[in-house]
This record gives sequence, C-alpha cells and structure tokens, in this order.
Amino acid sequence: MSPFFKINKTSTGKARAGTISTDHGTIQTPIFMPVGTVASVKTVHQHELKEDIKAQIILGNTYHLYLRPKMEIMQQAGGLHKFMNWDLPILTDSGGYQVFSLSASRKMSEEGVKFKSHIDGSYHFISPEKSMEIQRQIGGDIFMAFDECTPYPCEYNLAKTSMEMTHRWLKRCIDWTNENQEIYGHQQRLFPIVQGSTYSDLRKISAEFISEQNAEGNAIGGLSVGEPEEEMYRITNEVTDILPKDKPRYLMGVGTPWNILESIGLGIDMMDCVMPTRNARNAMLFTWNGVMNMKNEKWKNDFSPLDEFGTSYVDREYSKAYVRHLFVSKEYLAKQIASIHNLAFYLDLVKVAREHIFAGDFYEWKDSVVPVLKQRL
Ligand code: GUN
Repeated sequence: MSPFFKINKTSTGKARAGTISTDHGTIQTPIFMPVGTVASVKTVHQHELKEDIKAQIILGNTYHLYLRPKMEIMQQAGGLHKFMNWDLPILTDSGGYQVFSLSASRKMSEEGVKFKSHIDGSYHFISPEKSMEIQRQIGGDIFMAFDECTPYPCEYNLAKTSMEMTHRWLKRCIDWTNENQEIYGHQQRLFPIVQGSTYSDLRKISAEFISEQNAEGNAIGGLSVGEPEEEMYRITNEVTDILPKDKPRYLMGVGTPWNILESIGLGIDMMDCVMPTRNARNAMLFTWNGVMNMKNEKWKNDFSPLDEFGTSYVDREYSKAYVRHLFVSKEYLAKQIASIHNLAFYLDLVKVAREHIFAGDFYEWKDSVVPVLKQRL
C-alpha cells in the first residue's frame, strides 16, 4: 500500500513536490483545495470541478453541515462523498474557526464553544469531542483538530492562553479519535493545527508540540487574518522549519495567487481559500497577466477570449466583452463563468509550480511571475 505522503522532488530551498494517497485517490502537491462549505463549491458543478477545473480535493465545513442539513441526513446519505456525489478526496475543517467568524454570538470555555446559529438563532455546543464526532459522520479523508483561531492583532497573553487551550483540545481530539473508528469504511486522517498568533516564541512552542503528536499531516492556522503579508511569510517560514519534513503541511485560509507561490517556497504543500470563488462573484479574475475587474468599462468592446492563457473552456469560449456584459446585467452566469475561470487558474498555478519544482528552477520562476500576478489590468 502507498504511504500517505511521499515526497517526489525537493528543491534547493524548502519547496517540494509530493503525492498524498487517500482511499478516494491521490493528490499531487503542492495543491490548492477549492472550498465547498455547504456541500457545494459555490456556482460550480462537481462535474466541472473534476473535469474542467481539475480539482483533486475539496473542503467541507463542520459548522455549516452540522447546522444544515444536519448529521442525521449526512449519515442517511452515507457521508459527504455520497451526499454530494464527489468521489475524490475531501478535507473537513473542524468548526471552531467558522463559529468565531460566523455565529451571531458565542461563549467559549475549556469545555468547548456555545454558539448561536447564523441560520435560525438556535443555540448549539461544539466541544473537541463533538467536532470529531461530526467529522466522522461527514467522513472526509482528512479532518482537522478543533482549535481556536486568534484574531489579529492579538495581545500576547491572550495568544498564549488560547494556544495552550488549543493544545489541550488537541489531546482530547486525539483521544476521541483513537477510541472511535471510521464509520464509512475509508480511512480518515486527523491533522493538528499550529497556533500562536504572530509571536515567534509561541509559534515555536506550538510547532514543537504539534510535531510531537506524530500526526500524518500538520496544519498552520491563525494566519491570513489581517496581518501584513510579510508577517504571514515570517511565521510560515519559522513554523515550516520545525514541522516534520516527511509530513504534508497545510497552510489554512491562504490566499492570493502570489501568497500561494510564496507559501510553496516556504515549504507548504496544501492551501485553501474562498478567494478565487468569492472574488469571482465580485467580478475579480486572477490571471497569469494580473488581476482583472470584469465590470471595468475598458472590456466593453474587447471581443478577445476571456483569458488567452487560461486552461478552462470558459477562457476560450467567451469574450471579455460578453463576461463584462453578464456582470453589468447581474446575470448568474457571470458568477459561474468567473468562478470556473478562477478555480481553473488556481489549479493551473499549483500545477505549474510543481513542474518548476521538478525542473529545479522554482525560485527563479516564482520571483519572475509574482510581480506580474499582482498587476492590475
Ligand atoms: N481556516 C483558516 N484559518 C484557520 C484556523 O486557524 N483554524 C481553523 N480550524 N480553520 C482555519
């Protein structure tokens, strides 16, 4: 049987190309994971995700799926793969982060988090054990420890207390997981999460504690929450210096195309973000030439293909003028075309990054394309 993670190629720096093997198929890293919060990647069909965008793994969210459709339906369906008819790998986030960003109100204690649903105002309680139970019922191939993500900026003592609780919660997640097996017959891997805000000493303590748990993969949380990009890169670099080299490293909630390339350069293997889909719905397209605002008057009579370097059929089949017209007319199709474009671009970005890791020129290539990716067209 294949190992869960195999490194195929290392580079002169920290970037590496690898393969993750799950019971729902393999993932070539570095990889970007589209976010499918409520059992749907917004505006995009599963068929398009697989065949056109070439997604290899998608994300689901404990918080949302627990509130709707609820776990009874999830279990009747036989888990999320069957419910949404997606037979490739799935990763689920644990809920803590979403409780903090979405619920109308919440109260945290050592035991867990009591919160008010953003859907109907009902009260719920999620503990580390409950999060594990829900993630077993969803059945993702990879599932995340229940953690607390601190905001930015965060006062030192708060960051320290929060990190220590995240570590105690992790122990409870591991204990529960060891005592309660998978329910759908495929293997699920638990990834712990490094916290510690922007403090190097806390990040070091957390990265060492997380590494000692000997999980099959590790994540870095608490970044991309409003801190300057340089801070995010500095912390990522410090943490990847400590996390085990032979396990996949997942940077949560990142980011722009240039954030993705810089993070790969710092030894990150997996990333996810709502940016390609959320910004697509707001008419922002990412391309190899830079960032386009599709509502801009300048595309009004530009009948050239949406993106001459794009890999998806929407890039070839529709013109800039047509997509601008759809946005100006507030047509649903505008959001659909833009989302397919952005996700296909993100998947192409990590694929080409992987090719440059193999070719041995990743860093030269990254430094030449990052300024172009940032241009406003
Ligand atoms: N998504 C983005 N950041 C985080 C984080 O710190 N924790 C969790 N669980 N999910 C995240």
